[in-house]
Amino acid sequence: MASTPSTLLWGGRFTEGMSDVMVTFNESLPFDKALHEADIRGSITYAKALRQLDLLTDEELAKITSGLEAVEKEWADGKFVIHPAVDEDIHTANERRLAELIGPAIAGKLHTGRSRNEQIAIDMRLWARTQLDVLSEQLRAALAVCAARAKAEIDVLMPGYTHFQRAQPVRFSHWLLSHATYLMSDLQRLHGVRDRTNCCPLGVGALAGNPFGIDRTFLTKDLGFSSVHPNSLAAVADRDFVAEILQWSSLLMVHLSRLSEDLIIFSTAEFSFVRVADAFSTGSSLMPQKKNPDSLEVIRGKAGRVMGQASGFLSTLKSLPTAYNKDLQESVEPLLDCVKTVSHCLQIAAGVLSTLKIDPDKMKAALSTDMLATDVANYLVLKGIPFRQTHHIAGAIVSKAEQKGVSIAELELSDLKQISPQFEADIVDVFDFERSVERRSAKGGTSRSSVLDQISAIDAYLAGY
Ligand code: ARG
Repeated sequence: MASTPSTLLWGGRFTEGMSDVMVTFNESLPFDKALHEADIRGSITYAKALRQLDLLTDEELAKITSGLEAVEKEWADGKFVIHPAVDEDIHTANERRLAELIGPAIAGKLHTGRSRNEQIAIDMRLWARTQLDVLSEQLRAALAVCAARAKAEIDVLMPGYTHFQRAQPVRFSHWLLSHATYLMSDLQRLHGVRDRTNCCPLGVGALAGNPFGIDRTFLTKDLGFSSVHPNSLAAVADRDFVAEILQWSSLLMVHLSRLSEDLIIFSTAEFSFVRVADAFSTGSSLMPQKKNPDSLEVIRGKAGRVMGQASGFLSTLKSLPTAYNKDLQESVEPLLDCVKTVSHCLQIAAGVLSTLKIDPDKMKAALSTDMLATDVANYLVLKGIPFRQTHHIAGAIVSKAEQKGVSIAELELSDLKQISPQFEADIVDVFDFERSVERRSAKGGTSRSSVLDQISAIDAYLAGY
């Protein structure tokens, strides 16, 4: 047996120790030690609230506070010595160490009216709140790179694709901003997720509330939360914030994976629109010529990991009976891992984007005049012909050009007039990619002014937040 009942925090009613495999199976310290700072912070606040109730003296509060700070310093300095089989989780470990430092008589008062069920809930929320702020900064940095590049490279034209077939010319900036648009919505959504995470479950006991009349408004304010969790039964088992963070992350990762996929394709020799910097590429152990966009492939791959964590955790949450059940311990690892993954992916994405080399000539060379067939149809619309007809006429022109083995821009005016007498010499103006892009000047379009508007909107949002 690995543990004896007397050494365990809750060992009072037990006569036999736990089996070794049960100790390992049950313990969470190997991962929830990441929450050490939040756990200490929550305990210091709780001690202050106990003082207000005269459940601690000034002197006891001072001892508990400095003791907890000393424990935190041990964690921060990497000097905390874990006692295997005794330190079941971060709460137990911190309290055990506190008792060693200040003596069990005083340390033993800290847990008055409190439960580990609320402790883990508060620790996770405090930790998550800080991490969401870090992710927000990293997402903002990625967006700033998109906006800066979009501004600098606004002159570059490239094919726009639908069904992954060449469709209409667009600006490179417009393509980049299409991805930035998704990331902007992720940033906006993140604020909502943070607001809902920022709710205080401390002071609810194990499930049924605090019997000493603890001031939950004080706890909430002291920990910087914006609201008091309204129901004790719900508060101890509320992991909706974890579900939301995982789901938010999943959608963000979907967006990053789509950006990655585009860039992987654009970086192939067949496209050569972009080159991923060496700093974000790797070589092949077998083929000396290879340079692989591993950074982007790993982002694309990590999307699956995060989505798996989101759906896996919902499966854990589904059908759990009211209040705390140990299944909820399964919320910790996905949260920790997901935040780490997303943070890495955001930094890598920003790094890839800021160092990416683009090849405007290759992009231009990929533009073909058949991509202006819609412009031909629109030209005739402006001559008064209904679009449904002009679409057919433009189609006939594409097929005529194919028959003659030339591009539509190379057809003679007489060829065009044969198909529709409305064609005039000014049709040559249509066969110009820049003009085509500029013509789409309605909001959200490809013209310089529309693209600049999009950039300003991102800049304004980033500056205002
Ligand atoms: N490690 C536990 C968790 O992550 C802490 C709460 C334990 N509560 C309990 N009643 N055993 O959920």
